Amino acid sequence: MKLADKEKTLTIEQILRNRSSAIDKELDAVLPPDTSLLTRAMRYSCIELKGKKLRPFIFLEIAKILSIDTQEVMKIAAAIELVHVYSLIHDDLPSMDNDDLRRGQPSCHKKFTEATALLAGNALLSLAFEVISECNTIPKDKRLLIISELAKAVGHDGMIKGQHLDIESQGKQLLLEEILFLYQLKTGKLINFACKAAVIIAPNCSGEARASIDAFADNFSLLFQITDDMLDFTKSTDKECNIVRMLGMKETQKLLNALVHKATSALNMFDMKAETLTELLSFVLNRES
Ligand code: IPE
Ligand code: IPE
Ligand code: MG
Ligand code: MG
Ligand code: MG
Repeated sequence: MKLADKEKTLTIEQILRNRSSAIDKELDAVLPPDTSLLTRAMRYSCIELKGKKLRPFIFLEIAKILSIDTQEVMKIAAAIELVHVYSLIHDDLPSMDNDDLRRGQPSCHKKFTEATALLAGNALLSLAFEVISECNTIPKDKRLLIISELAKAVGHDGMIKGQHLDIESQGKQLLLEEILFLYQLKTGKLINFACKAAVIIAPNCSGEARASIDAFADNFSLLFQITDDMLDFTKSTDKECNIVRMLGMKETQKLLNALVHKATSALNMFDMKAETLTELLSFVLNRES
């Protein structure tokens, strides 16, 4: 039975778990092997804390839709997760969200030290670029484009700008458009990059497919960050920007349903090839972590 056929009989939770193990193996291979405090902090946050690995998952799903051999691009999947984990380590620092817990366990600076966490984050970001640059299953010109797009997505005009706007917005009343803009930056830019990387690698992606993938990424990103806000709101300890605080539960739920609808429509042109991504939308809408 081919992998695609085998996956048809699995639930989205099982598919996510399987893919997560494959991504863990790749992370294990690209992370340094020594036992220094710095390496232990990097490995703890990337592997031991067991994140959902949603961004590399989306990258691999889009890659499959575009007929890319996913085995050949696992390094790119790992690099995407390295950047995500770096962003979380820094997001939890006392000078940012000051979160003692990440995924229910001590956050990196609590488990190790603040300086180690800061440097582990920096090291993960640099490692991501190293891993992409050395991924020789992808032609050099495409690797260069992926590196350039990643740098832009997570830099001063992308994810970091979003994180800074988030910090600056504390205690302020933002307009709905301002919150959505901030979310497209802090959360959307890396998710959009994950999708774009697959489009770059694909041998021939039509303009129509590219536009649909972009639309999926934009709507998925907002769905993802707003469901995260829902989960944070019920904990009600967060000071950061939270859309539920502004709109209330009922209106937020309406917005979420509209985002699922738009993201699903964006996938229509891919028909059954996008079945797993469509199921992922319901999974995210109903998630509890
Ligand atoms: C958390 O992302 C940060 C946000 C952008 C909301 P995830 O919920 O994907 O984090 P993990 O890696 O699965 O814990
Ligand atoms: C984190 O957003 C976004 C990035 C790390 C870029 P949040 O601060 O809402 O994420 P959680 O709630 O800590 O996971
Ligand atoms: Mg934050
Ligand atoms: Mg946070
Ligand atoms: Mg949050």
